[in-house]
Amino acid sequence: MPSPDVDQFAALIRDRLRHGNGPLSRRLAAALTDLARTGALSPGTRLPSERDLARVLECSRGAVAAAFNALFEDGICERKHGSGTYLAASGAASAMDRLLSPGAVFADLSTSVVPDPAHLQLPKLDPAALLHTPSRHGYDRLGEPGLLELLGDVLITSGGQQGIDLSTRCLARPGEAVLVEEPTYPGALAAISSCGARPVAVPTDQRGMLPEALGEALTRHRPAFAYVQAVRNPTGAVSDAERVRELAEIARAADLPVVADHTLAEVVHEGAPPGRFADTHPHGTIEVHSLSKALWGGLRVGWLVAPEPLRAQLTELKQTGDLATSTVSQRLAAELLRHNDFATWRGELARRRDHLATALRQALPEWTWTRPAGGLSLWVRLPGTDADAFAELARENGVAVAPGSMFSADRRHRDHLRLSFALPPELLDQAVPALALAWAG
Ligand SMILES: Cc1ncc(COP(=O)(O)O)c(C=O)c1O
Repeated sequence: MPSPDVDQFAALIRDRLRHGNGPLSRRLAAALTDLARTGALSPGTRLPSERDLARVLECSRGAVAAAFNALFEDGICERKHGSGTYLAASGAASAMDRLLSPGAVFADLSTSVVPDPAHLQLPKLDPAALLHTPSRHGYDRLGEPGLLELLGDVLITSGGQQGIDLSTRCLARPGEAVLVEEPTYPGALAAISSCGARPVAVPTDQRGMLPEALGEALTRHRPAFAYVQAVRNPTGAVSDAERVRELAEIARAADLPVVADHTLAEVVHEGAPPGRFADTHPHGTIEVHSLSKALWGGLRVGWLVAPEPLRAQLTELKQTGDLATSTVSQRLAAELLRHNDFATWRGELARRRDHLATALRQALPEWTWTRPAGGLSLWVRLPGTDADAFAELARENGVAVAPGSMFSADRRHRDHLRLSFALPPELLDQAVPALALAWAG
């Protein structure tokens, strides 16, 4: 990926500078470290010169030089003689990297995913059947015809994450704002930042973004689009139909495209299903779907529902990236869809949610959360605690947890953790005492 130019850098940094305390050089170093650690800037990114950065940030060159020196000392940046300053490989660990690297833990509660495919009913299949598709070459533009027959008029993607990434690249330009719920899914924050756009948090309650806050953010930031979720990761809250209609009317009136993530939309444990932006704002909504929660993430199969001309643009972008999603995966997904009934797996997930909640209530009575009506995780508040530091302690005790700041465009929620309850109950039973030990220590 080409390095952002100095104006794009400034756009990424400005908001972060406003939030910190202390001298500008320290805030600037913290902002650049944050961009590296969250994956918004990738290893090898060339930083602007001290003089250019000082000019666009309207500060002294000395302040930028002091910030860069701090970054060299911390190993975040390295100088290449005669060619400038670059983000070092060791300085950048993307949020998704951190989530998906298991390390030496016995229970990984940090990833809100289906832990393994053990719950699936497997059809008896001749491998040759997975290789047979009408096009014969297997590069079907919109998707494998057999799977499209089940899913309808959609564009198949390599999971929901590719759907978010394609939608972002289709709708946003570097430096533009993208409205997100607060808190939100870190994979979306990473996709937005990696295309040089700027996630802007909109205050959100259990039902979804606050309508008046959406109106204000529209005027203030002139965003490229809004990213919203049907069932929200990390809170497990379900965006209700009435609120969604109200927000969709605001978006439609402002001609604001909406990327509505339905990856978790099927995972509703109680209450009504989520609302759909596409019902009210059909010409401006891209819906992101996935089979990762109903079946298994390892399939890497998802799909987009989008109006024209957006769908044609998304299809072209998808072809540029990977030509097509694996035909073998799509054919297997179609067979699994025919043989599996999601209600049984959903019931099991609800049991695991209650199991973890009961165990936590007994072992860690100070921790609090709102019972999630959907999703795969508990969004837990740890009173008066730095959850980033606690996550390190938990890892030392063999349990991976996701600290709340990962789910915020502004690195807020530092007293929250996301705990996945999708693991088998026996493992949850071992994880909770280890968490209690870390809490006591
Ligand atoms: C809200 C949300 N969107 C998208 C994704 C990515 O889904 P996939 O595994 O299908 O790429 C996830 C995965 O956890 C998610 O929670």
